[in-house]
Amino acid sequence: MATRMETEQVAGAYARWAPVYDLVFGPVFRQGRRAAIDAAEKVGGRFLEVGVGTGISLPGYDRANSIFGVDISEPMLAKARRRVDTLGLHHVEAIQVMDAEKLDFPDNAFDVVIAQYVITAVPNPERALDEFARVVKPGGEIVITTRVGAEQGLRGQIEKALMPVTSRLGFRTEFAFSRYTDWAATRPDITLTERRALPPLGHFSLVRFTKALSDRTVQ
Ligand SMILES: C[S@@+](CC[C@H](N)C(=O)[O-])C[C@H]1O[C@@H](n2cnc3c(N)ncnc32)[C@H](O)[C@@H]1O
Repeated sequence: MATRMETEQVAGAYARWAPVYDLVFGPVFRQGRRAAIDAAEKVGGRFLEVGVGTGISLPGYDRANSIFGVDISEPMLAKARRRVDTLGLHHVEAIQVMDAEKLDFPDNAFDVVIAQYVITAVPNPERALDEFARVVKPGGEIVITTRVGAEQGLRGQIEKALMPVTSRLGFRTEFAFSRYTDWAATRPDITLTERRALPPLGHFSLVRFTKALSDRTVQ
């Protein structure tokens, strides 16, 4: 049976992670964050980072780009604001509490939407992906780093069994890559342009989607 995740429960989990987040999840995701930033910077311009958390990725962006960071957890964002002030990160446009499933931006507002290790924490991932597609400009990209579940075999069974525990900690262990391909199949304006395995152990992936230049939904 699927384990239900609620936005408030996830926000509560990350409020508890905030004091130790960088220590626990800093090094383990470093290479993935670098890969996502490099992919975004190939496009360049105005970026939205969803689930920016403690702002751990913010110093890694080139100052030529601007970054708007949003997250559901105020305690995580308090750390991000402190990081912006301490390091003088003037390329950070703003840091705001916002739900990935309800982005408070007009359509086509950003050149790139980046979501690092966030989608599996969101209760309705497809709703968040629709929001990313709405706010990214035609020709722009959605760059995601994500856990990908094994679907079958022993690892798949363990990931499924762990779900009641990990969902309380704020993320899913069970997450099939088909959720991304099935979502993209519902969107004539979105193309999956890359999937690349990331460390640790290749259990994570960098996923890139491109939004069509012309609106192919209008005949
Ligand atoms: C695993 S952390 C990743 C943080 C950061 N991106 C990184 O690379 O370490 C997941 C982040 O997603 C945020 N998050 C979870 N659900 C969210 C939602 N519905 N809307 C916005 N942010 C959300 C959490 O608060 C947390 O900061």
